[in-house]
Amino acid sequence: MGSDNLVGIAEIAEMAKVTKQAVSNWRLRYDHFPAPKQDLQSGPVWEREAMETWVKDFKGETTHVLSFINLKGGVGKTTTAVAVAEILAEEERKHVLFVDLDPQTNASVTLISEKTWADMDSKGRTVAQLFADKLNPSQAPKFDISRAIAHHVSTINDGIARLDLLASSMRLIDIQDQIPMIALSGNFTANPLEILKNAIYPVLDRYDYVIIDCPPSLGTVTKNGLRISTGYIIPTIPDILSTWGIYQIIDNTNRFSNDTGRALEALGIVATKVQGNNLHRRVIEDLKARRLGDFGKPGALPQPPLFANTVPQTVAVARGADVDADIRTFKGKYGLAYEPLRGLAKEIQELCEKKKP
Ligand SMILES: Nc1ncnc2c1ncn2[C@@H]1O[C@H](COP(=O)(O)OP(=O)(O)OP(=O)(O)O)[C@@H](O)[C@H]1O
Ligand SMILES: [Mg+2]
Repeated sequence: MGSDNLVGIAEIAEMAKVTKQAVSNWRLRYDHFPAPKQDLQSGPVWEREAMETWVKDFKGETTHVLSFINLKGGVGKTTTAVAVAEILAEEERKHVLFVDLDPQTNASVTLISEKTWADMDSKGRTVAQLFADKLNPSQAPKFDISRAIAHHVSTINDGIARLDLLASSMRLIDIQDQIPMIALSGNFTANPLEILKNAIYPVLDRYDYVIIDCPPSLGTVTKNGLRISTGYIIPTIPDILSTWGIYQIIDNTNRFSNDTGRALEALGIVATKVQGNNLHRRVIEDLKARRLGDFGKPGALPQPPLFANTVPQTVAVARGADVDADIRTFKGKYGLAYEPLRGLAKEIQELCEKKKP
């Protein structure tokens, strides 16, 4: 830029020690990003001092990437992850990207209609296409992150302005077992555990939160999610069978975190589908006191804390798929589970944002 007092995107990027793409993302994401002083032919320009102040204030804000994970199926992972994403976007006014990594596509078809999903799937706008491209390195890649992401998703209010979705696809079932072989298929540049990371990093700065719904396994697809996660949450029904595998998750993610050299914090365990019976009450007490199963063994990893808010089993959530049900409001969609889910989202937010420097 010609003038010392004016800076363009490249200078702001230099100032903030980020890429030009990141600065463009910030402009889209933050309403408080200063308006340009002028629009020159070479691009917009800002007053240097105003931008320096803004960048300084802004630093410390990061994207919290949270995986919802449990090896057990049907424990409310998807329901909880979707609700937390919707609440953070609509009620807390955060920019949220929901990433569906489960080939069952439950979250995807909850957040967009099945018709929209089928259309996106046929155009390769899903994570399955992302992985498929890497399996066929000789063909031109079809996946494009900016086209793949759907905006304004959810049934709440006919769509939530700040909620985006990277959808999954049943096609992932056919290819997921081949993903670990990517590194061996002559495509030495692709680390099979960093495929999602490489695709998502260019847009990550647009979001305050990325919520990842993982399949009930610790396979390569889940590890792609953990690779970009800053923390994870374990939803569980508070009974013996459902809590059985929790130690395996903690142990495995801990080893994965050591292998990759990245901190990956167990934010906590959420009790889901809670009923007022003695068994549920007893397991919740054990989880509260952190004396679950294997965790008590000498030298074992500590049990992550239980979130204070527990999610009750409700009729509203159970009938979720009913098209006639009123799912345009939080109360209609979640019924009596809404207040606890809202409390849970607040707890998660406090855990993430208290760490801000
Ligand atoms: N709080 C709740 N009250 C009533 N029903 C619930 C509640 N949470 C989840 N469910 C129901 O339980 C079933 C499983 O929930 P969900 O799909 O969220 O679990 P999941 O752990 O993601 O399952 P999967 O392992 O298959 O991905 C669904 O039919 C869902 O509607
Ligand atoms: Mg699920």
